[in-house]
Amino acid sequence: MIRVSILVGSHGRGSNMRALATQIASDDRFTVHTVIGSKHEAPALETARNLVLPVSIVPFGQEYSDRLLHALQGSDWICLAGYMKLFPIEVLEVYKGRVLNIHPALLPKFGGRGMYGMNVHEAVIAAKESESGCTVHYVSEEYDEGATICQARCEVTPEDTAETLAEKVLRLEHETYFMALKKVALG
Ligand code: GRF
Repeated sequence: MIRVSILVGSHGRGSNMRALATQIASDDRFTVHTVIGSKHEAPALETARNLVLPVSIVPFGQEYSDRLLHALQGSDWICLAGYMKLFPIEVLEVYKGRVLNIHPALLPKFGGRGMYGMNVHEAVIAAKESESGCTVHYVSEEYDEGATICQARCEVTPEDTAETLAEKVLRLEHETYFMALKKVALG
C-alpha cells in the first residue's frame, strides 16, 4: 500500500486535496496517510475531517521541520495542495524525489514567488496567452522549479476572464494530480 500525505494551506478550499483523496480511496494500491495543515480551522482541514481522513495539525514556528517530519512518519509520497510556504529543506532531504506540487499554470511560465491564486490567471490573461493549464512537478528548494511530471492544457479564449480561466484550470487540476502521482509512484 502506497501511503500518501497531503499538505494543505491555511486558506485554500482544499478542492485538490478532496479530489486526490477521493481518487486515492477508489484505488486499493494507495491510501491517505494523513492530511496536514497548520491551523485547526483551515477550510481544507474541515473538508478532510468531513471525509473522515486522518488530520494532523503542525503549526508554523519553532521546530516546524521536526514536527512536520514527525507527522509525516510512514509516508511514501507527499503531495502539496495549496501549501503556500517554501517546503522546508530538512524535510525535503528526507523525502527527496517524493514531494509533489500542483501549480495552476504551464510552468516554467507564470511560476515563482507571488504567482499563486488569481494572480496566476490574471497574468495569463494579461499576457494574451492562447493556452494555459496546470503542472504537477517535483518540489525543490525554490518555488515552482522542480522537474515537471505532467501537464494538462486548456484553451484561453478572448472571452475568458481570470475567473473563467481559473474554473477551467481547477477542473484540469482535479483530473491531473492523481494521474501524475500514479505515474511516479507506480513507475
Ligand atoms: C490550486 O490552484 C493549486 O494549483 C495551487 O493552490 C490551489 C489550491 O486550491 N497550488 P485548492 O485549495 O486545492 O482548491
